[in-house]
Amino acid sequence: MITSELKDRFYKTGVIPVIALDDAKDAASLGEALMKGGLPAAEVTFRTSAAVNTIKTLKKEFPEMLVGAGTVLTAEQADRAIEAGAEFIVAPGCNPKVVKHVLEKGYPMTPGIATASEIEMALDLGIDFVKFFPAEANGGLPMIKALAGPYVNVSFMPTGGVSAKNLADYLSYNKIVCCGGTWMVKKDLVTEGRFDEIEKLSREAADIVKSIRG
Ligand code: 3PG
Repeated sequence: MITSELKDRFYKTGVIPVIALDDAKDAASLGEALMKGGLPAAEVTFRTSAAVNTIKTLKKEFPEMLVGAGTVLTAEQADRAIEAGAEFIVAPGCNPKVVKHVLEKGYPMTPGIATASEIEMALDLGIDFVKFFPAEANGGLPMIKALAGPYVNVSFMPTGGVSAKNLADYLSYNKIVCCGGTWMVKKDLVTEGRFDEIEKLSREAADIVKSIRG
């Protein structure tokens, strides 16, 4: 179960940048752009082999940043993420084996769901904060509102297709704690060294959060 303190940090940040660096050498510059832009959080995905070193660098350079691991598909990846300093674990789906493993280690896990049955699977594992993924392709906000109806204690982190255009709509719904997304940390911006643009897009996102949540 996620602690109320961690949920509060997700809520205040409002947007969790979803990162997939090819080379951890870019982690410090990327982290600096996110921090300066007002998004002190990251979900570092295990889609690239640089994930472990990216987590280590972000935690070392920016201890106050909330750093988690994403696309965690196995217990072994969860172990590596936690060892590197990840403070929370996210997955695109709800794999009971991985969820149980992470919870047994005493770490928070946010598995992905897209259906009522998957929410029930998560609830059964003791999870009431889930990633709704891929959000836009699965019906976006109307689908979250429909799913939230019967599951009154469940809250959501929509990810997948979220952008500056629809962020305010998502955050305006009280069952949404925060959104995840890659739009401010796109791979080409990193490879081209356009960290000023990353900072600008982060600030734009942070301003949207502020306009909704004060
Ligand atoms: C994820 O990893 O959670 C999604 O791929 C992010 O989706 P986006 O690129 O549409 O933000």
